[in-house]
Amino acid sequence: MAVSGVVMLLYLVFHMLGNLKVFFGPGDLNGYAAWLRTVGEPFLRYGWFLWIARCALTAAVVVHGVAAYQLSRRDLRARPQKYAHQRQRATYATRTMRWGGVILALFIVWHILDLTTLTVNPHAEPGHPYQNIVASFSTWYGGGIYCVAMLALGLHVRHGFWSAAQTLGANNPRRDRTLKVCANALALVLTVGFLSVPVGVMIGVVR
Ligand code: HEM
Repeated sequence: MAVSGVVMLLYLVFHMLGNLKVFFGPGDLNGYAAWLRTVGEPFLRYGWFLWIARCALTAAVVVHGVAAYQLSRRDLRARPQKYAHQRQRATYATRTMRWGGVILALFIVWHILDLTTLTVNPHAEPGHPYQNIVASFSTWYGGGIYCVAMLALGLHVRHGFWSAAQTLGANNPRRDRTLKVCANALALVLTVGFLSVPVGVMIGVVR
């Protein structure tokens, strides 16, 4: 879980930074999206880098989901009989991670249909992500879905970063405070960075 989580986290940092180009206008964002397809040329052919990244990400998502399922099965096996008080069955963090994970999985499906395949996008013009983003976030449901998902993402990253540090053995009593500050800072930067795009469209800064 930890390794696949770190792979996705790295992707998210670059994706968030790339998305911020939306504030510099259509030329910058659309140019950036076009450049992504030429990375690695002439060693790689046009678009290959994007497909390699897609394959690596898909593998990370699958490994993460399967590991999450296996972990929750193991939890259930370790405690087959029910707790007397249902509310004590899962801690706050476990519940947030489970439901946050489900929300994010559903979001990724929506997001790909919206901005990659353009199936549900109101503008749907291939090669024009800026216009597609503005069209998507201009609808109440489009903007709403992204805002809810970005908040879920922040909570997921906050706890996930901390858990990954423990799993990978990076924590110790002296470093715990620093790691918690890093987890909070990373979650905050990603949430604010990603949220700024739908909010920018909703308040008319990006149009
Ligand atoms: C406001 C937030 C976001 C915006 C504006 C945004 C924008 C975009 C755009 C424009 C694309 C298409 C890129 C292209 O084809 O050139 C894309 C693809 C993608 N995004 Fe996002 N994104 C956001 C948040 C996220 C989040 C939070 C995740 C993960 C949890 C994510 C995961 C992906 C994935 C997996 C792809 C597919 C890459 C591909 O196959 O082309 N995005 N995003």
